[in-house]
Amino acid sequence: MADELRYDGRVAIVTGAGNGLGRAHALLLGARGARVVVNDLGGDVHGGGQSSAAADQVVAEIQAMGGTAVASYDSVEAGDKIVQAALDHFGSVDIVINNAGILRDSSFAKMTEHDWDLIYRVHVLGAFRVTHAAWPHMRSKGYGRVVMTTSAAGIYGNFGQANYSMAKMGMIGLASTLAIEGGAKNVLVNTIAPIAGSRLSGTVMPPQMAEALRPDYVTPLAAYLCHESCQENGGLFEVGAGFHAKLRWERTAGHHFGSQPFGPEEVAEKWLEIGDFSQVSHPKSIAESVMPILQSADSPFGHGKV
Ligand code: NAI
Repeated sequence: MADELRYDGRVAIVTGAGNGLGRAHALLLGARGARVVVNDLGGDVHGGGQSSAAADQVVAEIQAMGGTAVASYDSVEAGDKIVQAALDHFGSVDIVINNAGILRDSSFAKMTEHDWDLIYRVHVLGAFRVTHAAWPHMRSKGYGRVVMTTSAAGIYGNFGQANYSMAKMGMIGLASTLAIEGGAKNVLVNTIAPIAGSRLSGTVMPPQMAEALRPDYVTPLAAYLCHESCQENGGLFEVGAGFHAKLRWERTAGHHFGSQPFGPEEVAEKWLEIGDFSQVSHPKSIAESVMPILQSADSPFGHGKV
């Protein structure tokens, strides 16, 4: 058995920590020495209502284990207040797990702008506001660990979840740039795409499956990404039921028309080659994406002209 990873001296904010995945993250961090801000608005799955009960319950559980935690009942849309709670109670913030979430599923044809906007506000704006308020504190102390919670629906799309897919993919984009901006200051940002039984996934998962996929199976990865020994940055991971894997972009060798004139007919003619994954590359940055295209011998900018 490996040495236990501890979080003594660290201050962690876990949003949406009153239930499901967030609760499991908060309990583990609290059990291992972190002082935890247990944030939860306490509303329903669709973003209605609010209550202090969910956050209070998890704070009580952490305290019963001998840990230290405070409740925060603000919506993640008031991210500055959540971070202020960490500063007021514990004087610092080291770890942010952006986990709060709701669903407002409907086919795109029936989706209202309200459904779109609420999902955007909780997932994307909420993650922005909490992380943005914590960012200067983490940068100035030269330490921070941020985890975004995305979804397979964001990565692959899912019927009835256009709003949620948009938001979850937005969080991946946010994390990609924050990883670049934070890395030099040891503020590392990663993203998990979990699968777990919860009241949220219970709306789209058969009950037997929801029971088998315990949130506890996701928390070890989230917690590792928050540990000082973890140097991963800008990663995207699928996790659930004990399975852990990393994702990356893959690009076909493609076809370069170079300086020859071409129109949609030539694109159609080369369609199979453009989509042929028998030879691939895995660009990890804008530079790795763009430079080979521009420097290709076929490119009008080629032969080292850029
Ligand atoms: P859950 O419903 O059990 O927990 C989410 C918590 O977020 C709730 O306690 C809720 O009160 C809180 N919350 C909602 N809106 C909030 C707001 N504005 N401010 C603060 N707290 C708020 O759901 P679950 O499954 O634990 O989801 C956690 C995260 O994981 C979500 O972001 C969800 O989209 C994501 N996720 C979950 C999957 C799963 O299989 N359970 C799959 C993919 C992603």
